[in-house]
This record gives sequence, structure tokens and C-alpha cells, in this order.
Amino acid sequence: MPHVTLTALEARLDTPSAKGLAHAVSATIRDGLLVAGDRLPPIRTVAAELALSPTTVSAAWALLARSGTVATDGRRGTTVLDQRSGGTVRYRAALERPSTFAHDLSTGVPDPELLPDLGQALAGLRTAPTTGSYLDDPVLPALAEVLVADWPFAVEEVSVVDGAMDAMDLFVRTQLRFGDRVVVEDPGFPPLVDLLESVGVQLVGVAVDEEGLDLEALEATLREPVAAVVLQPRAQNPTGVTMTSRRAERIAALLSGSPTVVVEDDSAAGLSPSPLVSLGQWRPEQTVHIRSFSKSHGPDLRLAALSAPARILNDLNGRRQLGQGWSSRLLQQVLLGLLTDDVATAQVQTAAQTYAARRARVVDRLRERGVEVGGTEGINIWVPVQDETAAVVRLASQGIGVAPGTPFRIGPSGPGGHVRATVGLVRDEAALDSLADALADAATTGGWNGRAR
Ligand SMILES: Cc1ncc(COP(=O)(O)O)c(C=O)c1O
Repeated sequence: MPHVTLTALEARLDTPSAKGLAHAVSATIRDGLLVAGDRLPPIRTVAAELALSPTTVSAAWALLARSGTVATDGRRGTTVLDQRSGGTVRYRAALERPSTFAHDLSTGVPDPELLPDLGQALAGLRTAPTTGSYLDDPVLPALAEVLVADWPFAVEEVSVVDGAMDAMDLFVRTQLRFGDRVVVEDPGFPPLVDLLESVGVQLVGVAVDEEGLDLEALEATLREPVAAVVLQPRAQNPTGVTMTSRRAERIAALLSGSPTVVVEDDSAAGLSPSPLVSLGQWRPEQTVHIRSFSKSHGPDLRLAALSAPARILNDLNGRRQLGQGWSSRLLQQVLLGLLTDDVATAQVQTAAQTYAARRARVVDRLRERGVEVGGTEGINIWVPVQDETAAVVRLASQGIGVAPGTPFRIGPSGPGGHVRATVGLVRDEAALDSLADALADAATTGGWNGRAR
């Protein structure tokens, strides 16, 4: 239906540029007027009808093709792709490689030896409430009470879901639409970027400095409507940066009076020595706060808690009722046992101290070797390198697996690049020292000696 398409495009064309036209196509798809398999009108027709040059239209089609929105095939012309067939491109690029390393530090997972012992919590299951009902509260009331009491701002209700990414998936599916602008941290968490790209939102990367999201860049981005800002308040993966209270307050001020929602992904809960700063302290009506228990209590517990403004929480809970309904109350009971048990609490505290010591040892030694690593906490370090590929390959040849930085980046990686190393997995001091030395050598491998071609 080329005529309908052209009218729809014209109505959505804000600026007569390639980007403007690409956004108009995105918005037309978002509004359901173009669907997978539809053919875009020929470039000449679009150019003539919308008073654009054919070069501008062809550049717009190229932009859309790069973002996976359309595909151009000589004979069939340019067709709209299925926007739901998202992939896990970045996640795979960041993590999937043969795990033949003596030290695989590419994974971003916690050290299994530092997870709390489940014995006591499992023993408590013998007296767990009945599990035979579809009708009980989706969240164990006693667990909800413990969570609400320890939330970073006053909330009346929390939901429990199957991990932070389940929370994120529910948010994305119910609150975001194709073509929405969404701010993410650059560098950020690759699976989150994959998830957002799978629904065709426009990602805007904002750099992270030592206090959190870069204020100037964020302010510039917010001049146009932004549906959501997704950030990690503590131990940002991959940089290890923790948002300061001062920065949070400034971000809250920028968001005052806007419809933008902030989604906070606190995956370092329990392991961070820093007090948690949440934008919910200033903007409770705009803040979705997610607390994952994967790093602190075990990824296979598959549990996270979340709070959200009532209108959003209703949507998320409603969507969930159509799917899995609730997170296993047996697992919720285990988590409750862990959160209320002194031994488990002490084990999580020990883990936090151990990760801090491991990270600090590598960062200090790297500094002595002239390699500055930012951030202050978490299980990862984000190491600037002269040549990313050369660094990954060199470390691999020494039996050390690290994640290349590119999949974590939204914008271009620049001339050198980074690698992410999960130093929290390295247990003894000698191994931490030799890891730091290997990283320092790798950081200056390739690309710097004037022989670049
Ligand atoms: C920033 C970030 N968000 C979310 C997750 C995943 O959390 P969950 O296991 O709760 O889905 C991770 C795990 O590595 C993470 O680093």
C-alpha cells in the first residue's frame, strides 16, 4: 500500500534528512502501519513525494538496514524485517568463546566459593508454606516485608521476578515501543543492549564517568523526548563505577517534570560496601528499581525484586500473569532464609570484602605499571588497551580469557579499546599479581609502536 505508506511517512517526518526519514519509518512501524514483509516504496517515489533527494532516501534506507529494521534485496526491493526476531548478538560476542582457558575471566559471574551456604535455608523448607496453590500471593509476604524494609526509598510494594533480566524484559515489553529513544550507559551490559535492540528502540549511549552518567551528555540527550534511562547505580558492569549522591541528585533535577522513566539495575546489591543511592529518593514516581540476588546469593536462585510506580507495576504484574505467573515460592523461601540468617549474611559480607580486596590488588598493581583503571567496586575491571584484538589474543595465548570491550560499547570504540576482566574470580594473591602483570603487558600490545598500517 505505497500510498498509505507515503502519507504515514509524511505525517511522521520531522526533519528532511536521512535520519529524520529513518525515524519516520521506525515510527510508522511502531504505529503498526508497516509490518514485517511490507515493501517500502521505491526510492525515486519517496524522494519525489516527500521532496527529498534520492541520495537522502537511499541513506535513510541504509541506516534502517544497519539497524536491522529493513533488508534490501535487488529484485524484491526494500522490505520491513520482523522486529521481534531479536538476537543475542552482543551477549554472544562478549561471552561465547571456547572455555579452554586455565583462567576464564571473560564471564562476569560470581565466585561459587563466595556464595552463601544453602544448607540452613534448605533445611527451613521442610516447614515451608504449602506450594500446592495457584492462588497464593505472588510474593511471600514475609519476604516482601524484609525487602521493603531494606529498599533505598519508601515503597509500599515490591514484586519478585526471575532475575534482573526478567524484570528488564517485562519493562521493555510493556513500557517501550518501537522507535522510542532509550538512554543506556556506554559502556553498558551487552544482554541489555541486545534486549532493547530486539524491540527496535533507538539507543542513545551516554558515557559513564567516575560519578555515574555524564551530566552534560545526558542533558543534551534529554532535549528530545526520552522514554527511559537505564542505569546501574552500583559497581557498574563493566566499569565498576558507583553513582554518587551528588550525581544522582543532579540527574533527578534534569528529569524533573519529564515523562522519562529511570530503570535502575542494582546487580551488585549485597556485595557493595557503598550505601545505595537511588533516583527514587528524589523521583519515586519515575523510578523502577531492580535488585538482583544473582551475584550475592547465586545466579541459579534466579531471583530479583523490583519496585515501580503503581501504573508501571500494574502493567508488569499483569503481563506476568499471562506468562509464568509468579517466581517459585520455594525459591523465595530459600532467599528469605538466606536474607534472615546471620551466617549467610556474614558470608555475603565476607564475599563483598574479598571481591573488594581482589579488585584493589589488581588495580593497584596495574597503576604501578602505568595502566589506570577506573571505577571502585564490583567483580570486573575495565582495562584500557592499545589494541583490543591484540590484547585478547595475547592473554588467550597465556591461558587467560577476557571479554573484548567492543560488545559493551554503544558508540565507536576509538582507536584502542578495552577488555573486561572478572578479577573477582581470582582467588590467591600471587595469581592476582601475575594477572595484573599479564594485563599490563597486554594493554600495551600492538598498535602503539608506529608500525600500524
Ligand atoms: C548489570 C547487570 N544486570 C543484570 C544482570 C543479570 O542479572 P540476573 O541474573 O538477575 O538476571 C547482570 C549479570 O551479570 C549484570 O551484570
